[in-house]
Amino acid sequence: MKEVGEIIAGLDIGTTKIACIIGEVTNDGIDVIGIGSHPSQGLRKGVVINIDATINSIRKAVEEAELMAGCEVNTVYAGIAGGHIQGFNSHGIVAVNNDKEVKRGDLCRVVDAARAVAIPMDRQVLHVIPQEYVIDEQDGIKEPLGMTGVRLEAKVHVVTAAVSSVENIIKCANACGLEVADIVLEQIASSESVLEEDEKELGVAVVDIGGGTTDIAIYNQGSLIHTAVLSLGGNHLTNDIAVGLRTPMKEAERIKQRFGCALTSRVSPEETIEVPSVGGRPPRVLSRQILSEIIEPRVEEIFAYVAREIKDSGCEDLIAGGVVITGGTTILDNMPQLAEEVLNVPVRRGLPRDVGGLVDVVRNPKFATGVGLVEYGSTAADRSLFEEETEGMYGRLMGRVRQWVSTMF
Ligand SMILES: Nc1ncnc2c1ncn2[C@@H]1O[C@H](COP(=O)(O)OP(=O)(O)OP(=O)(O)O)[C@@H](O)[C@H]1O
Ligand SMILES: [Mg+2]
Repeated sequence: MKEVGEIIAGLDIGTTKIACIIGEVTNDGIDVIGIGSHPSQGLRKGVVINIDATINSIRKAVEEAELMAGCEVNTVYAGIAGGHIQGFNSHGIVAVNNDKEVKRGDLCRVVDAARAVAIPMDRQVLHVIPQEYVIDEQDGIKEPLGMTGVRLEAKVHVVTAAVSSVENIIKCANACGLEVADIVLEQIASSESVLEEDEKELGVAVVDIGGGTTDIAIYNQGSLIHTAVLSLGGNHLTNDIAVGLRTPMKEAERIKQRFGCALTSRVSPEETIEVPSVGGRPPRVLSRQILSEIIEPRVEEIFAYVAREIKDSGCEDLIAGGVVITGGTTILDNMPQLAEEVLNVPVRRGLPRDVGGLVDVVRNPKFATGVGLVEYGSTAADRSLFEEETEGMYGRLMGRVRQWVSTMF
């Protein structure tokens, strides 16, 4: 944990909005002291496609948060998503040095061994998250430091991303005068803010349904075991509503947010809504059930893809704690109920918790990633102590390879 009084900023670069959350470390945890949110115009399906538009939105969101917090932000923890993200499990084995007692150096070496998989040049490793260690024949070890053994094995979850997408995020942040302390997979950040420890222990899937992507993270026995990103989100719903009700996109978005419901059976047939038309035609009055009939199959489809992803990952029997849905799209009425029908497990809506300060504003599923980035940043010191060493060794090795290649050509 960082020191009391330290300021941590999270920058959630989403498809529909860019949110900057500023947190201050207190004795009890974190107080949110600044929030800035600005519509994002430069992203598609979670990936930056227009640098200038993204820089502009980041600048506005950060300025707003800084004004509210009354402080300046120089460093941010930035989120990343998109179809280019890949997650897989890996493992590495080393012999224990130093009198058969596991030291920090052994942990760095074994994690290095686990991450030493061939990945294409245009991809880079974002996270190497240890799941458990095995010393000699003993498995299920979470804290191996100081234990005695000869053979140390690490099981890890590795997340990789397209180098270009990572670089574009860094470029946008740098252009706004911000250093990027770390780039964090969005669903890992969201998990930090919405999950309870006992859920992670029992097994749980977090499903963050934003505007352009649906991000999944699965935990079991306290460790991250699976990650996936689906290129589907709330924007598809808005699009369906615009086409189905023959109304402009802006109006479709407003109608969705105001009157949308995921379950048609829960909407009274008497309820009506006024729908503006296109091409100067007069507005029409339609049943609210018609709106639900457009929303329901699309949401069902999203959850059907989520169910397939969980099944294909082999984690179906490992989520006894159920599913936690978060992200802006889950604000829709009756989302958890529809999710339960499709997924056949208990589902709850996840809001950022365990933070103080401007709680009323951030207790909203769309701020799960932003708040989670701050929470992730608050424990970064504990992680970096270990990661820097592995990064250092890996970096030095890569540096040497690069030098060697450049002298050859
Ligand atoms: N009240 C509401 N009812 C229904 N949907 C809503 C509501 N408020 C926001 N949304 C939808 O939530 C989506 C945005 O969610 P969120 O802010 O989590 O996405 P994002 O982080 O910008 O995108 P992504 O994570 O996909 O890159 C939009 O599609 C928006 O229409
Ligand atoms: Mg998001």
